[in-house]
Amino acid sequence: MAKDAAKMEKIVALCKRRGFIFQSSEIYGGINGFWDYGPLGVELKRNIKDAWWHDMVQHPPIGPDGREISMVGVDCSIIMNPKVWVASGHATGFADPMVDCTESKKRYRADKAWVVGFYSPRDIEKKVEWATRFKQIQNELSIADPRTVKVSDEQLDAIQTKIDEFKKEWQAEAHTIQPSVIYGLEADNRDEAIHTARSLLTKRQKQELAGQYVDAAYDQMNVPNGWPRVSPATQKATLTEPRSFNLMFESHAGAIKDEDNKVYLRPETAQGIFANFKNVCDSTRVKIPFGIAQIGKAFRNEINPRNYTFRSREFEQMEIEFFCHDKDSMKWWEWWRDTRINWYKSLGLAGENLKPRNQDDKELAHYSKACTDIEYYFPFADDPQELEGVAHRGCFDLTQHQQHSGKDMSYFDDETKERFLPTVIEPSAGADRSTLAFITEAYTVDESRPSPELMKFHPRLAPIKAAVFPLVNKDGLPEIAEPLFREIRKRWPAQYDGKQSIGKRYARMDEAGTPYCFTIDGQTKEDGTVTVRDRDTGKQERIDKSRVVAYLDDKLHPSAR
Ligand code: GAP
Repeated sequence: MAKDAAKMEKIVALCKRRGFIFQSSEIYGGINGFWDYGPLGVELKRNIKDAWWHDMVQHPPIGPDGREISMVGVDCSIIMNPKVWVASGHATGFADPMVDCTESKKRYRADKAWVVGFYSPRDIEKKVEWATRFKQIQNELSIADPRTVKVSDEQLDAIQTKIDEFKKEWQAEAHTIQPSVIYGLEADNRDEAIHTARSLLTKRQKQELAGQYVDAAYDQMNVPNGWPRVSPATQKATLTEPRSFNLMFESHAGAIKDEDNKVYLRPETAQGIFANFKNVCDSTRVKIPFGIAQIGKAFRNEINPRNYTFRSREFEQMEIEFFCHDKDSMKWWEWWRDTRINWYKSLGLAGENLKPRNQDDKELAHYSKACTDIEYYFPFADDPQELEGVAHRGCFDLTQHQQHSGKDMSYFDDETKERFLPTVIEPSAGADRSTLAFITEAYTVDESRPSPELMKFHPRLAPIKAAVFPLVNKDGLPEIAEPLFREIRKRWPAQYDGKQSIGKRYARMDEAGTPYCFTIDGQTKEDGTVTVRDRDTGKQERIDKSRVVAYLDDKLHPSAR
C-alpha cells in the first residue's frame, strides 16, 4: 500500500461527492477502466485542454531562436484504415505479456503479478552453502581464465569436471531448497511486492520461519524453474505462462463481422497526425519547423486498469508532432522538454511532486535519440508516475507510412532546395492524467477552517471562476446580486447562491475550488462596494461593484500569476 493511500481515498471521495469524477455506469455496478466526469470535472478537464491548446497551439512560447513557432491543429477520426496500425507497429508490437488464472478467470499483466517466497532458516543455510561453493568454483574459473592465465589442458579438464559434478549435485538438491511460504500478489514493483507479502505473513508462519526468513520476489516474466506460478486470486499455482495480448480494441466497420472489415479504436492520436502530414503541408503554408497538434480520445484494452483514472481503457491525449530538420532536432527536443515542464509549473504543478526523468538507453525505442518522461508523485504510488513523454522519434513514423502507403512523405525546402523526411519531436500528454495530477495538487486540508477540505486550483483551471452571494435573501440584496451574477456569467462560469449561512456557502465554493466569491451586503447599498474573498487566504477586501468584471479579467487572464 502506498504511503499516501489514505489521502488518495479522501480525494476520490471528494471527487464523487462534489461531482468531479464518477464511475462509468455506476448504477449497473460500474465497468472496470472507464470513468465519467461530472459537472465540476467536465469544466476542469475542459479548462486543462483549453489551456494546452491556447498555450501550445494558438499562442506557443517563442522558439529557441527567438522566433515565433508555427503550430496548427487537426481533429482526426478515431477509427482509421487498419493499415495505419500495421505501419505504426501497433498491429504486431502494441502488446503486453499477460498471464491468466485458470481458476478465477482473472487476467494480470505479467510484470504486475508477483510470486514472493520466504525461506526457512534450514533452507537459508543450504542456500548459503551452495552459494559459497558456487562462488569458489567461479573464483577458480576466473583464476583459470585462459584469456588471462596460461593453463594446461589437464587443469581445464579438472575444472570442467568440478563444474559438471557441481551441476549434477545442484540439480538433485535444488528442488529441496524451496521457499516454505509463497504468495501470489499484484504489485507495481519488487519493493511493493515484498512489503505486501511480509504484511500477509501470519503469526504461525513467522514462528515456523523462526523469525529469520529471506525473501525472494519474481514477476511472471522471471519466475525461476521449479517455482509455482501462484495466482493472486487463488493463492494456488493456477496462472498460465505469459502470453502476448494486443491492447487495441477491435470492432467491425459495416454489417458483416469478418477479418476483412475488422477495425481498431485508435490507441493514440499521433497516427492521425502522421497520416495527415502531407494534407497539412499541401493545404496550409506551414514551413519546417512546425508542429501539428491534436486532442482526442484514445483506447487501450489495458489488462489491469488501476489507480483511479490514471490507467484507464478510454482516455484523452493531447499530442504534438513537431517536424524539423534532423540537424536541429536535439535543440528542438530540449526546447519542447523545457516548454512542457514549464507549462505544468505555470498551472500549479510547481513543487517537489513534478519529476522529469530522462529515459536511459535500455528504455529508449530503437529509433529514438532521447526521451524525457514528465512524472508526478501521485498519492497512490511510492514512485513518480508518467504524465507525459517528450520523445525524439527520428523519422521513424513518416518512413513507415511512406513504405506502407507507397505515398511520398518527404518535405521539400524551397530555400535550401533540399528534399528530406523530417525528424519528429513528440510531446505526448494524457488529459486525464493531467487532470488527476491537478486535482491531487489542488487538494488541501486546512484544519483551521470550519470546513477543512479545499481545492486550490490555479484560477485558469478552476471549474467555477466566481460565486455571487447576497448576504441575506432580503432587504434588496438579491436585486443587486442577480444582475452582477448575470454580468459575470456572460464571460465565465459562475454560480449564484443565496441559501444557508455565508460560512457554508464559502465552504462549498472552497471544495469546488472557486477562487473568488463576491458578497453583496448592507454596505453595498450605501457605497456600491462588494466584498471579494480569496479562496486560498480567506482574506476579504472591498471593491467597487463596477470593477468586478475587470478584477476577474485581470486574475483569470492566461498570463496572470
Ligand atoms: N504517441 C505516443 C504515446 O501514445 P504513450 O506514452 O503510450 O505515448 C502518452 O502515451 C500519454 O498518454 C501518457 O504519458 C499518458 O499520459 C497517457 N496515457 C497512456 N495510456 C494511458 C491510460 N491507459 N490511461 C490514461 N492515460 C494514458
